[in-house]
Amino acid sequence: GAAVEVDISALQPGEKLTVEWRGKPVWIIRRTKEQLADLATLDDQLADPESKRKPSEFTPVYARNPWRSIKEEVLVCVGICTHLGCSPVDKFQTGAQPSLPADWKGGFLCPCHGSTFDLAGRVFKNKPAPDNLEVPPHMYLSETKLLIG
Ligand code: FES
Repeated sequence: GAAVEVDISALQPGEKLTVEWRGKPVWIIRRTKEQLADLATLDDQLADPESKRKPSEFTPVYARNPWRSIKEEVLVCVGICTHLGCSPVDKFQTGAQPSLPADWKGGFLCPCHGSTFDLAGRVFKNKPAPDNLEVPPHMYLSETKLLIG
């Protein structure tokens, strides 16, 4: 499929944009400073905090960093669970949901079998999904223009 160009100039901190690429939903999320700070505290709860598993499939070289992204604040990932392909839903808010820990820092919950992912798309331990969410090939054409694919 063709690459997709996306203008992210209107994307505010804490907001998410979904575009379609090769028939898959790709999420673009501008994380807040607080959300980025939270990511740094989660490593021991994650199955693969440094995205070392299958890096060539799930995490391009330029996203092999603590944010899994080119620009620290902007996450680009495929919104398809690495377990059996359901679509995880946003859980950006804190606590108050029985399926999530009380100190939940935000991320995504797969409704099919309960896998949870942080705001870098990294899967939490002891969940059926084996891998972090896929970061698709992408690059910046300018400060605010992304090319996915
Ligand atoms: Fe997501 Fe099974 S498909 S947890």
